[in-house]
Amino acid sequence: MRFLAGDANWWRQAVIYQIYPRSFADSNGDGIGDVQGIISRIDYLKKLGVDAVWLSPHYPSALADGGYDVDDYRDVDPRLGTLADFDELIAKLHENGMRIIIDIVPNHSGSGHQWFKDALAAGPGSPERDRYIFRDGKGENGEIRPSELSSHFGPTAWTRITEPDGTPGQWYMHLFASEQPDWNWDNPEVRADFEKTIRFWCDRGVDGFRIDVAHALVKDLKNGHLPERNSYDLSVMKDDGTDDLFDRDEVHEIYASWRKIFNEYNPPRMAVAEAWVHANRRPPSASANGLGQSFSFDMLGAGWDPRKVRNIANINMKATVENGSSTTWVLSNHDVIRHATRFGLPEVSNFGAWYKDNRFNPGVDEKLGLTRGKAMTMLLLALPGSTYLYQGEELGLQEALEIPAEDMQDPQFFRNPDLGLSRDGCRVPLPWTRTGSSFGFGSGGSHLPQPKWFGDWSVEAEDGVAGSTLEFYREVLALRRKLQTTETFKWVWHFNKQIVHFARPNGWQSVTNFSQKPVKLPKGKLLASSEPLVSGKLAPNATAWLQA
Ligand code: NOJ
Repeated sequence: MRFLAGDANWWRQAVIYQIYPRSFADSNGDGIGDVQGIISRIDYLKKLGVDAVWLSPHYPSALADGGYDVDDYRDVDPRLGTLADFDELIAKLHENGMRIIIDIVPNHSGSGHQWFKDALAAGPGSPERDRYIFRDGKGENGEIRPSELSSHFGPTAWTRITEPDGTPGQWYMHLFASEQPDWNWDNPEVRADFEKTIRFWCDRGVDGFRIDVAHALVKDLKNGHLPERNSYDLSVMKDDGTDDLFDRDEVHEIYASWRKIFNEYNPPRMAVAEAWVHANRRPPSASANGLGQSFSFDMLGAGWDPRKVRNIANINMKATVENGSSTTWVLSNHDVIRHATRFGLPEVSNFGAWYKDNRFNPGVDEKLGLTRGKAMTMLLLALPGSTYLYQGEELGLQEALEIPAEDMQDPQFFRNPDLGLSRDGCRVPLPWTRTGSSFGFGSGGSHLPQPKWFGDWSVEAEDGVAGSTLEFYREVLALRRKLQTTETFKWVWHFNKQIVHFARPNGWQSVTNFSQKPVKLPKGKLLASSEPLVSGKLAPNATAWLQA
C-alpha cells in the first residue's frame, strides 16, 4: 500500500487523472457511469500509477451541459449513487494511496437548483432574484434583451422568463447554456453558500477542488452597467483586472476567503483554477493566498512544434517561479479533441469548418497521432510540475468523431453554429473489453454511442501486452515517481533545433525528436523511450528519458 503522508505539497508535482464520471464505468447497467463503477476500477487506477483523481461534476444535474449545470452542490446525482457511495470512494482511494479532487462550478448553477426555482417564483426585486442576475428588458414592454452579451453556447447570454402571474417578465444572464443561470457574486448569501459547500466536501475528506470558469464569477454590474460583447472571444479581455466580465481583481478576494477555509484542514486542501486569462494574469489565480494552482492550456495549442513547446515551457516555469505555485501540463480533457487524434489530423486552418465537413471521413493518421501523443506525454511528464491526464488517454484512445447528430448531447454542438464543434467525441464511455455490451463499460449500453472500433483500444486489448499504450503509461508513470526531484530544469542545446532536450537536477534527462529522421542519443543510461530505438538512435516523433 502506498503511504498517504499528510504532505501539504503533494499536488505540486502530482499526476492527476481526470474521470468524467458518467463515462468511466457503469456498475448498475443504466448506461451511465457511476460512483460504484469508479470504485470497481480502483485497482486499475492504482496499477496505472496516478497520484490523484479529479472527478468532473458528480452532482444532481439535468445534464444540459454534461453535469456542469449543478442542481445541488452538496449531493450526488442519484444516477451516480449516494453520499454513502461517495464516502466509500474517498475512503478506498485514500486506502490505495490516491487523493481525490472534485469540480466546483461557482459561476452558474443549473436551472433546477432550488434557489433558481425560488427566484422564478418570487417577483422582480425580491431577495431570491438577487442571488442571480435578473434585469428588466429594454423596449416598451421589456421585450429587448438587456445587453448584447453573447453566451459560450449561443448568440445571447440572456433568457426571458415568464413571471409567476403569467406575464412575460425579466431576463436572466447565463454565460453558458440557458439552463446555467449565472450567480450574482455581489450577493453575500451566494458567497456564504459556497463556503458551506466547500466545508461540506472538505469535511468528507476531499483533497482538493478544480474550480470551473474560475476567471468569471464577479462581473461589473455597478450603476446599471452590463457587459456587451461576445463572451467566448477572450482576445478582447482586458489584462489588468478591470475587464467587465472576466478575471476581475475582486474574484481573487473570493478565492482568498476560500483559501482560509482550505487551510483549516490538515493537510490544507488544494485547488486548481480553470482560468482562461492572459499569461500575465495567471499568478493571481495560482497564488498561495488564493487557489494555489492554475491550469495552463497552452500546450493544447502547441501542436508538433519544438519552438512553441520550448517557449510555453519557459513562460510557464517563469510564472511558477514568480508566484510560488507549481506549473500544470495538460494535453487532453473533457472539452477538447483527444490528443491521440489531434496530433494525427490533417493540417487545417479552420478546425470548425473541417469538423463539419469531414468528421465522418476524417482521414486521421492515427499512428502518427498516437506516436506524437506519447512523445509529448513523456516530455511533459519529465518537466517540473503536475500533469493532468484525461481518462482513456492511457489507452491511446482516439476521438469518436463520427457520432450522429441525433445522438449528440453537447449544447455547444447544437447552440453555437459558429463553432459547431462537439465535445461528445472525447466523452464516449471507456472501452474496458474488446467486445460485449458497451465494451465492458456496463451491462446496459452506453449513454453516448461507442464506435465499432472502440474494442481495439480497450483495457483488455492492452493489459499486459508489451508495447501497448497502457503498458507504456504504467512504465513511465512508475519511472517518473522514482525519478521525481526538485522543481527546476535546464535546457540542453543542440545544433539541431528539432531536438528538445532538458535535464532535471538529479541527472534525469528528457530528449524529444521532433524531426523526421532518427537522431543520435546524448550520453546517458536509457531509462525509457516512447518508440523503440532505430539502430541505437532516437526514432522520429519520439521521446527518451536518460539518466546522466
Ligand atoms: C468549463 C467546463 O470544462 C466545460 O465543460 C463547461 O461546459 C463550462 N466550463 C461551463 O461550466
